[in-house]
Amino acid sequence: MLVDKAGIFGNTDTDCDINSVGQNNHSIPAVLKNAIDWASRPAFASPLKDKPVTFVTQSGGPVGGARAQAHLKLILDSTLSRIHISHEMLVPMIEQKFDDAGALTDETTQRRLKRHLEDFIRFAAHSRA
Ligand SMILES: Cc1cc2nc3c(=O)[nH]c(=O)nc-3n(C[C@H](O)[C@H](O)[C@H](O)COP(=O)(O)O)c2cc1C
Repeated sequence: MLVDKAGIFGNTDTDCDINSVGQNNHSIPAVLKNAIDWASRPAFASPLKDKPVTFVTQSGGPVGGARAQAHLKLILDSTLSRIHISHEMLVPMIEQKFDDAGALTDETTQRRLKRHLEDFIRFAAHSRA
């Protein structure tokens, strides 16, 4: 099966979820946790079950939201989502990676993001075949 649509929060109309998340106080933003808790109903049979998911975390600090990413993987493990195992896609010092118009200008991040998403598309297509 080809991956035609990507989305967030278990939209039943999507083939996979891409979670691009900032870090607050060493975890995911509380509003995202709340959204996942609602989207994951009914427990173990929600639209998140069996959905391929990947992660891109970013922060203003040097660690790129690594702790938020670890927490998010643990949370989505509980929803029986299919977690993309890969190099972690972390974007540290986020303020330096975009121009004033909001375009991603950092070439290393562009290259890593392309590799990450290409790998995820293969993973998602395989997971849902
Ligand atoms: C309440 C709060 C907590 C934050 N905690 C962290 C953190 O633990 N680690 C980190 O690297 N950045 C942290 N940040 C910075 C954010 O990840 C982000 O880089 C910054 O808030 C800019 O994004 P925003 O405009 O979406 O808020 C925090 C920001 C806020 C407002």
